[in-house]
Amino acid sequence: MWASNRISCILLLITPFSWAANYRLPTSLEPQHYDLQILTHLNATDQRFEGYVKIHLLARENTQNITLHSKGLRIDEDRTSINSQFPGESNCVTNIEVDDEFEFYTLHLSRKLEKGKHYQLEMHFGAKLNDSESGYYKSDYVNSIDKEARSLAVTQFSPTFARQAFPCFDEPNWKATFNITLGFQNNYTALSNMPELGCREHEYLKNYTWCEYEQLPKTSTYLVAYAVHDLKNVHTIYSQTANKVVFRNWANPGFPEQFPIEMEPEVLSFYENLFKLNFSLAKIDQFFAPSHRFTAMENWGLITYNREKFARSEEDDLLQRLDANARTVAHEYAHQWFGNMVTMRWWNDLWLKEGPSTYFAYISLDALQPEWGRGDRFIARDLANFFAKDSRSTVPAISKEVQTPAQILGQFSEYVYEKGALTMRMLHKLLGEEAFYQAIRSFLKRYSSGNADQAELWESLREAAVEYEVISQNFSLARAMDSWTLQGGYPLVTLIRDYKTGRLNVNQTRFYLRNDIERHSSCWWVPLRFVRQNVPDFNQTIPESWLECPISENRTLELFHPPGEDEWLILNPQVTTIFRVNYDDRNWRLINESLQNDPNFGGIHQLNRAQIIDDVLALASVQIQNYDTAFDLLEYLKKETDYLPLERSVNILNRLGALLKGQEAADFQIYMRRLLLPIYKRFPKLSLISTTPESIRDISFQRFVYTEACRYNVDDCILQTEILTTSNQTGFWPKVPSNFRELVYCSYLQNGGEAEFQELFELFQKSENPAQQRIWAAVLGCSPNFALFEQFLNLTLKSDEKHIAECYMLATQSALSRNHLNPQMSNHILTHAKELDVKLKRRGFTNLLLRLAVNLQEPEEVEQLNTYLKDLKQFDEPLKKALDVARINQQWQKDCYRDFSQALRKRI
Ligand SMILES: *[C@@H]1O[C@H](CO)[C@@H](O)[C@H](O)[C@H]1NC(C)=O
Ligand SMILES: *[C@@H]1O[C@H](CO)[C@@H](O)[C@H](O)[C@H]1NC(C)=O
Ligand SMILES: *[C@@H]1O[C@H](CO)[C@@H](O)[C@H](O)[C@H]1NC(C)=O
Ligand SMILES: *[C@@H]1O[C@H](CO)[C@@H](O)[C@H](O)[C@H]1NC(C)=O
Ligand SMILES: *[C@@H]1O[C@H](CO)[C@@H](O)[C@H](O)[C@H]1NC(C)=O
Ligand SMILES: *[C@@H]1O[C@H](CO)[C@@H](O)[C@H](O)[C@H]1NC(C)=O
Ligand SMILES: *[C@@H]1O[C@H](CO)[C@@H](O)[C@H](O)[C@H]1NC(C)=O
Ligand SMILES: *[C@@H]1O[C@H](CO)[C@@H](O)[C@H](O)[C@H]1NC(C)=O
Ligand SMILES: [Zn+2]
Repeated sequence: MWASNRISCILLLITPFSWAANYRLPTSLEPQHYDLQILTHLNATDQRFEGYVKIHLLARENTQNITLHSKGLRIDEDRTSINSQFPGESNCVTNIEVDDEFEFYTLHLSRKLEKGKHYQLEMHFGAKLNDSESGYYKSDYVNSIDKEARSLAVTQFSPTFARQAFPCFDEPNWKATFNITLGFQNNYTALSNMPELGCREHEYLKNYTWCEYEQLPKTSTYLVAYAVHDLKNVHTIYSQTANKVVFRNWANPGFPEQFPIEMEPEVLSFYENLFKLNFSLAKIDQFFAPSHRFTAMENWGLITYNREKFARSEEDDLLQRLDANARTVAHEYAHQWFGNMVTMRWWNDLWLKEGPSTYFAYISLDALQPEWGRGDRFIARDLANFFAKDSRSTVPAISKEVQTPAQILGQFSEYVYEKGALTMRMLHKLLGEEAFYQAIRSFLKRYSSGNADQAELWESLREAAVEYEVISQNFSLARAMDSWTLQGGYPLVTLIRDYKTGRLNVNQTRFYLRNDIERHSSCWWVPLRFVRQNVPDFNQTIPESWLECPISENRTLELFHPPGEDEWLILNPQVTTIFRVNYDDRNWRLINESLQNDPNFGGIHQLNRAQIIDDVLALASVQIQNYDTAFDLLEYLKKETDYLPLERSVNILNRLGALLKGQEAADFQIYMRRLLLPIYKRFPKLSLISTTPESIRDISFQRFVYTEACRYNVDDCILQTEILTTSNQTGFWPKVPSNFRELVYCSYLQNGGEAEFQELFELFQKSENPAQQRIWAAVLGCSPNFALFEQFLNLTLKSDEKHIAECYMLATQSALSRNHLNPQMSNHILTHAKELDVKLKRRGFTNLLLRLAVNLQEPEEVEQLNTYLKDLKQFDEPLKKALDVARINQQWQKDCYRDFSQALRKRI
């Protein structure tokens, strides 16, 4: 029996907030269950919701006040009540405080809530459906069949937006069960996390229905989801997963979506087997929302996707599209375990769900479709990004203290995902298959339907590692791993061999690309694993020893099987740990000989080959190595047969090329032409390719080689693209295989004039398919004529549509990567900075600035950047990052330009 005391209560005051000192909720009350009813109105003139929530609370301490989160909600104070289990214990709300900064709503009571007792808080509230893509928002679109404008309502609660939809304890550690009931007009469909229990007519609103959903198991508020919409279920799958999960796919019929529907049950089953823990819900709805703040959101049982990101077009590069979609889907499914079952205690450990979900997505896709070679491709990309980003001085740790909603949102950066994935991979390779998976399983089992932090993951891993004798009982895995997650950056490990005694001298220091900054004496626990030339086994990755932190000044090692004097030694097989390596000259020479002379590159793993080039070029740019040594190694690339080492090397060379001028720039063109020629020659003529190659690996390799060959005008590459465009004058080049279209169009513009530009510009304007428009946008950036290109840029700036604004970004990135039009581009971006910051959001604009900064070399250009942005407070952070990148370039100009161009000269 529950006593309701509403009648006897008189609300005294509502006052502004006065006491909070931090952003965390008090811990005196524990929410255990929510009954949530949301009535949604979605007609043209009235788009809002009304809600009722009853929160079951356990008092963990005596308290006379209740603080929870609420933002932008109209709460009906007269109908708020607190009820106790014991009749007669009447309690009243005497005073309410609200705080906009902390997003708190505090109720003061006339009587204490007593420790150990249960209470129920009832509140009535409402708000307009906003269009900020957060909380309970509305999304407008055009029905693709009847072409009518429609609206739907859907939630995005992660990370701190549930509080915009109902008053709640909006922190990930307060997990509770939820009974959700949705009210809506009959001509819509409603969905929530759980299967529907039953529906009934609304008691007085005509043509409205209430539907109730099964109880949602203990969940953090950021994972609750619901939608009221008129999308159609375009595909149902009755799967063979352990609990026969039913998959439904909700989309606007006819919209050019393409998603790998077939893969999803397989991915889910794969994780069930891998983690030895079944997915417990009966259904998963996949909801393709017309607008979405992110790419996707992993809500339990109701995964939402940004349909724009999933749209397909005729002109699409199928490979990239399928890769990106598959990665998103596999990532969201991994979250059902990492995030949904086991949730981080607080947002500082966001990587604890994003790292594993990113990494296990790679593992699952690689296992299910090995011929795509996704595992290594994705890892190679993450490694390339990591080594480039983390050599700056401004990188944060992946696990770092966050408090405010803005800081929490800021945690969702690519960096946390990528370095998080690399950290999981490091643990995987460090522990070995058996120990790693045992650790992961016991971690999931132990914390399932609860919360965990980083230390608890380390402990599960330590236990398994000790059991499998990978580490000793007294080794502190936590201390070792903290050195990777609690600081940014990475070490350069220097390995000097004593060829007489066979001993090794090893030390470490943080690697910075800038030499004019204050250096902190940081260090890492570096696992050491060596491979020697005569036994080139790159599969053994369990460490032989560790480089400690703080470091014993001069660490000398003796290997059990020391390499012979004429054998190379390579540290860090498969680049399982994220550090750079420098060797003594003789060892570099030995490595180089294998790369140049051995058809099999001495058996050196492709990720190590990529890393060797990346390392030696990075070391040369800080003058630890000279460019002669670097160029000697680069020679081997002419024979490289794998995509990954070639892609990484050429991308880095392209960036260096952007820093050259005049004679050196011309020399560089010649050099690149020579380097790429033998590789280009090994591929078939572009104009003769009629079908796409079978293997997806070959497609990416081919596309890359043609793109780079045409960029540097290698052999007949441009002529080949011309053959394709002239022989297809009727219609629009349908004969070009779709994977090569972008590069063919690009060459067409690069070598064409106004007519060619207008032709493609018109295609952009005519297209209604966002995926297709994105492709045209990137292609238009290939035009060397700024006056023409500017028409396009101004058009995108005028548009209110979000994806058109994104086209500005794609086109400018494309232009900047081609390194032409630099001054004009820089001008355009900077003079429209404020506008772009709004249109692209802060993150998109920061990325654009960073991309711009990579190309800046003249002091005047950097000055211009500074002048435009320095007085605008909102640009402090992006400006700092961009200036850091620009200073690295200037330093390179000063210190390396001569060395680089002399070494280059010798080789052309
Ligand atoms: C549903 O009905 C309401 C009220 O008649 C109307 O405003 C709305 O456009 C309708 N929605 C759909 C999807 O038919
Ligand atoms: C929209 O809803 C409001 C309030 O619920 C109602 O007064 C109005 O008639 C509705 N309009 C239409 C077109 O159904
Ligand atoms: C709420 O109650 C707790 C526990 O009694 C107390 O420490 C805290 O100061 C109170 N907060 C406010 C705003 O009164
Ligand atoms: C309810 O729906 C019926 C059938 O669609 C329609 O004829 C009627 O006008 C609607 N009533 C209201 C109050 O919207
Ligand atoms: C929540 O719903 C379940 C049925 O799914 C029901 O058994 C339970 O009693 C409900 N809880 C509350 C507090 O209403
Ligand atoms: C590491 O060793 C190399 C080679 O012996 C030496 O040049 C370098 O200064 C050492 N670095 C540190 C940080 O001790
Ligand atoms: C290393 O592993 C790969 C992939 O599992 C396998 O193909 C290769 O033969 C292994 N190499 C050695 C030396 O065991
Ligand atoms: C480091 O140790 C090696 C071998 O013990 C020794 O030859 C070398 O001189 C030492 N270097 C320094 C800087 O102490
Ligand atoms: Zn994620």
